[in-house]
Amino acid sequence: MSPMSPPPLLLLGVALALLPAAADRYTPDWASIDARPLPAWYDEAKLGIFVHWGVFSVPGFGKYSEWFWWNWRGAKGTDEMKFMEENFQPGFSYEDFAPRFHAEFFDPDAWAEIFQASGARYVVFTTKHHDGFANWPSKTSWNWNSVDTGPHRDVVGEISAAIRRKSIHLGLYHSMFEWFNPMYLADKASGYQTQDFVFTKALPELVDLVLKYKPDLIWSDGDWEAPDTYWNSTEFLAWLYNDSPVKDIVVTNDRWGKGCYCKHGGYYNCADRFSPVTPPDHKWEKCQSIDTHSWGYRRNMKLDELMDLPSIISDFVNTVALGGNYLLNIGPMHDGMIAPVFEERLRGVGGWLDVNGEAIYATRPWRVSYENGTVPVWYTATASSVYAILLKWPQQNPFKLDAPNTSNSTNVTLLGDPTLLKWAPVNPKGLTVTLPEMPPCPGNAWTLKLDGVA
Ligand SMILES: *[C@@H]1O[C@H](CO)[C@@H](O)[C@H](O)[C@H]1NC(C)=O
Ligand SMILES: *[C@@H]1O[C@H](CO)[C@@H](O)[C@H](O)[C@H]1NC(C)=O
Ligand SMILES: *[C@@H]1O[C@H](CO)[C@@H](O)[C@H](O)[C@H]1NC(C)=O
Ligand SMILES: *[C@@H]1O[C@H](CO)[C@@H](O)[C@H](O)[C@H]1NC(C)=O
Ligand SMILES: *[C@@H]1O[C@H](CO)[C@@H](O)[C@H](O)[C@H]1NC(C)=O
Repeated sequence: MSPMSPPPLLLLGVALALLPAAADRYTPDWASIDARPLPAWYDEAKLGIFVHWGVFSVPGFGKYSEWFWWNWRGAKGTDEMKFMEENFQPGFSYEDFAPRFHAEFFDPDAWAEIFQASGARYVVFTTKHHDGFANWPSKTSWNWNSVDTGPHRDVVGEISAAIRRKSIHLGLYHSMFEWFNPMYLADKASGYQTQDFVFTKALPELVDLVLKYKPDLIWSDGDWEAPDTYWNSTEFLAWLYNDSPVKDIVVTNDRWGKGCYCKHGGYYNCADRFSPVTPPDHKWEKCQSIDTHSWGYRRNMKLDELMDLPSIISDFVNTVALGGNYLLNIGPMHDGMIAPVFEERLRGVGGWLDVNGEAIYATRPWRVSYENGTVPVWYTATASSVYAILLKWPQQNPFKLDAPNTSNSTNVTLLGDPTLLKWAPVNPKGLTVTLPEMPPCPGNAWTLKLDGVA
């Protein structure tokens, strides 16, 4: 497990090497941490739902509403400043939004039912964003947490339990830094030579989250101003992987300090809007918000700023064909409602997966990822089948696929209909398939299942 394993063990053969070695522990350095195999559930899951909810959902305004406080107080000449001047009394502070975070309609089981209906196999929820507001009763966030003020509920606890009841994996988002925390700002002023914020706030809260809610995934963020040595990230991860109650199942991302992303940790998020064109050699995840302008809810969002179902499916399929997972974001409203337009999108994804999920869950990239003959086609594969996902219904019939090599036992079906389709080989490679009439598909993406092709 660790690259520190004594080489002679390997010489004794595969069987011995697979025996659990009690002495093998991860050490707090990237070589050891990065060598940990990613727990298999994550790659098989493919779809997660990202949920941004907190005090920022109350003003629910601006470019990236979860950045509201910063854009109001930390920047100059912004729409957020104008909004506050025009709509609030002088002296109104960001903290004054917290008591208005009533969450009176918050029903965690209703949320979990929507997440399940989307076909997602994991959910990532904001326990604490850059404003530092803790959505659980954090002892180190006195009066700035969801039990002392706002909803007066353990939001993380309630969501965790509801998600678990639906057998969905639990992911917790956690921001390392807090824009305006005086302790963080003092460490920053020292050039990160002091670590008071890390040892009295960031790490104790991370450990508290792990021990209380036993997450299957930790989505770290807000790491980029300071090096991983300031955050003591490798020490935390070594504890997480060696001794925590989730050591065997937990998955992490790559935001563990300045310069870490796309290099260290668990799977890679890389930079925002990372979009590879061939499958990277490391597991990765694309996060994408249905509201293309914001992660948190914006009361001023417009319909044409939202992704429609076909564009979500196209992005999702593209990501999975290149080996990625897709983390699709919604921002619930401050009162606890999920806007019906987001709910409709999520149920739409689930409806598409009901028919086409076989081409998504637990698949891997195929030797060819994409072809664009008459219509755009993304390929995925399992040990026995190749899936060609068509992002348009072809005008030509029979329809030609260029990449698959057929054999005498090749079979072709359209997912959702077991009827074998007529096909013919094309010389020197590829095949033509005789398609039925276009079946209705709200996601606008149809899957041909090919057995017995290379
Ligand atoms: C932080 O990292 C330093 C350097 O590895 C180590 O000496 C110290 O014990 C760590 N502290 C915690 C609380 O992990
Ligand atoms: C696929 O081909 C169509 C028609 O030639 C073209 O309009 C489209 O841009 C192509 N798409 C990509 C992603 O290359
Ligand atoms: C598919 O067929 C082509 C043309 O005969 C051949 O060059 C190629 O190696 C084949 N690929 C596989 C994976 O069988
Ligand atoms: C396909 O079947 C034909 C005739 O039955 C046979 O000659 C040929 O070798 C077979 N090809 C493959 C790839 O199995
Ligand atoms: C194709 O279908 C036939 C008839 O159902 C079956 O005998 C054959 O095994 C199938 N081929 C593959 C590659 O699954």
